[in-house]
Amino acid sequence: MANIRPYRETDKFNVQRVCLQTVNDDVVFEGLNRPNAELFLALYNDYYTEQEPENCLVCTNDADEAVGYIICSDNVKRWRKVFMKEYMPRIRHRKFGEKIIAVGEVVAHSLFAARYPAHLHIDILKEYRGNGTGTQLMDTLVAHLRAKGVRGVQLCVDGHNVRGIRFYKRYGFKTLLNFSQGRAMGFKIL
Ligand SMILES: CC(C)(COP(=O)(O)OP(=O)(O)OC[C@H]1O[C@@H](n2cnc3c(N)ncnc32)[C@H](O)[C@@H]1OP(=O)(O)O)[C@@H](O)C(=O)NCCC(=O)NCCS
Repeated sequence: MANIRPYRETDKFNVQRVCLQTVNDDVVFEGLNRPNAELFLALYNDYYTEQEPENCLVCTNDADEAVGYIICSDNVKRWRKVFMKEYMPRIRHRKFGEKIIAVGEVVAHSLFAARYPAHLHIDILKEYRGNGTGTQLMDTLVAHLRAKGVRGVQLCVDGHNVRGIRFYKRYGFKTLLNFSQGRAMGFKIL
């Protein structure tokens, strides 16, 4: 069983590393300066650890280093406000097609915010997958959100991510919307 614990500020580098490494398992991690790092960290990582660290969990190796995470915002409205003000500007010089990804996430999450006020991202380094850690991370986050009275959690997943989609479906997530790049899925907690 993997060790799962709350996120700490000192996990930030390893969490960013997991984010960038899991974008493409086959590309060796080259540090935080690789060309697309700012894009992926602004879109999928830094908001959560910087603004809602209490809704972030990590799984760790024997040295207590984060090798995976589940990071979450428990309130789409708050996320949208802060994300648009502080994180979108970090990618304002990027290509139009890249910024559209962010806009798509904002629209999708906003559409389903009433029934699914929380949204999440989950990533685990390749060598630590397939032994139940993802399920454990999800169980721990769902229990945390339930205790806070959060009704549901949603996410967006790339349409090519067959294993990810299978994992979410098996967990009980339902498809809320199919769009050109992927799908929005939701899980009712209360
Ligand atoms: C999606 C992801 C988070 C799932 O995490 P995980 O730790 O692999 O998940 P689990 O081990 O709980 O379950 C996944 C698989 O392991 C199997 N499994 C679960 N418990 C197991 C156990 N104790 N022993 C062996 N296999 C097990 C499941 O049956 C499942 O099988 P599948 O590959 O046929 O679907 C992980 O694969 C990942 O990080 N993928 C890359 C990044 C990504 O796609 N993130 C989602 C972006 S939206």
